[in-house]
Amino acid sequence: ATVQRSGVWRYRELILPIPEEAVISRAEGNTSLYAVGSDQQQETQASPGLRRIGEYAGLSQLYLKHEGENPTGSFKDRGMVVGVTMARLMGARAVACASTGNTSASLASYAALAGLQALVFLPAGQVAGGKLAQTLAYGAHMVQINGDFDAAMQLVEQVCDESGIYLLNSLNPFRVEGQKAIAFELLQQLNWQAPDWLVLPAGNLGNTSALGKAFRQARELGLISHLPRLAAIQAAGANPFYLSYREGFARRHAVQAQTVASAIKIGNPVSYARARLVIEECAGLVEEVSDPEILEAKAVIDRAGIGCEPASAATLAGIRKLVRAGIIKPNERVVAILTGNLLKDYQTGIPRAETVCIDPDLASVRRTLDALGSLTG
Ligand code: F0G
Repeated sequence: ATVQRSGVWRYRELILPIPEEAVISRAEGNTSLYAVGSDQQQETQASPGLRRIGEYAGLSQLYLKHEGENPTGSFKDRGMVVGVTMARLMGARAVACASTGNTSASLASYAALAGLQALVFLPAGQVAGGKLAQTLAYGAHMVQINGDFDAAMQLVEQVCDESGIYLLNSLNPFRVEGQKAIAFELLQQLNWQAPDWLVLPAGNLGNTSALGKAFRQARELGLISHLPRLAAIQAAGANPFYLSYREGFARRHAVQAQTVASAIKIGNPVSYARARLVIEECAGLVEEVSDPEILEAKAVIDRAGIGCEPASAATLAGIRKLVRAGIIKPNERVVAILTGNLLKDYQTGIPRAETVCIDPDLASVRRTLDALGSLTG
């Protein structure tokens, strides 16, 4: 039953075929696929407030797969549940990762569940509040590095090498296996009709690698007839993969990363080679978007009532840019992955409206409502 309730273990024959008793789970996955296209003929008709997102994108058939609905609020739970299950099976005592915050929150949760110790390396002062709070609350040992994510990543690899602590960054093959479940669940929700495009935010490139692998596998098994084209979207200030793509992957780039989307503030992605193969295999592409474009797109998603963290909104910003450039056609079927929950980063891009604070009497309330305008009939 545990296995069937999990949107990861439900597909375990394609991920990690282990006996049901060995499985750790928080019933991860099972995330919503929101139809937000402007076209009312879309199989699942978009709610009025959601259609606005499709109009903003310029697409009649657009879907948002909200991975922020996972147990710890990000897509990382899909890979982490498999990584931690494997760590426990292999008898590890402690697991570790470097993180911009979501991986660490997920690692801390699943390690606690499995009775393992967790060690996380974070770039000091660069992790959003919600993610820090989760990581601490779940009881991880937290080390803040006076450096960026890329420095933390290098250090954790070395530490794991010399200490025998089990490394659970997306370099870990079992994490990648679990993350494939995003694609399997998505395809099932679409009745195994692959979309034309799959758009996702790209940082360390683990997710690009995992989704590419999942779609390849689904096609080899005859579950889908064609590979969706992957569009990996980077923040313009953290765009090493985009720089490589633009020159035909002639060489690998590294940059000093800078962006409001702290989750993808990564200058030297570890899964570069695998992600490159994926983009080439599916005739995909890499695009970059500016911080203002990310924040504008986030506001559109937030106002629609769904909400997401800044990095996730890079998808919508990227889609809008690609539609305007004529690369994504207005009638194509497009799915964007919203990778993280709104509450993860409760400060970036939240409107600072003047707070209305009034005396507790009806006259004051009436005056306030009059000033607000057309709330009533
Ligand atoms: N979106 C969010 C919300 C993320 O947290 C991440 C990565 C990405 C997108 C990019 O995915 O790295 O597979 O290309 N977060 C990692 C972390 C780095 O430590 O939480 P990617």
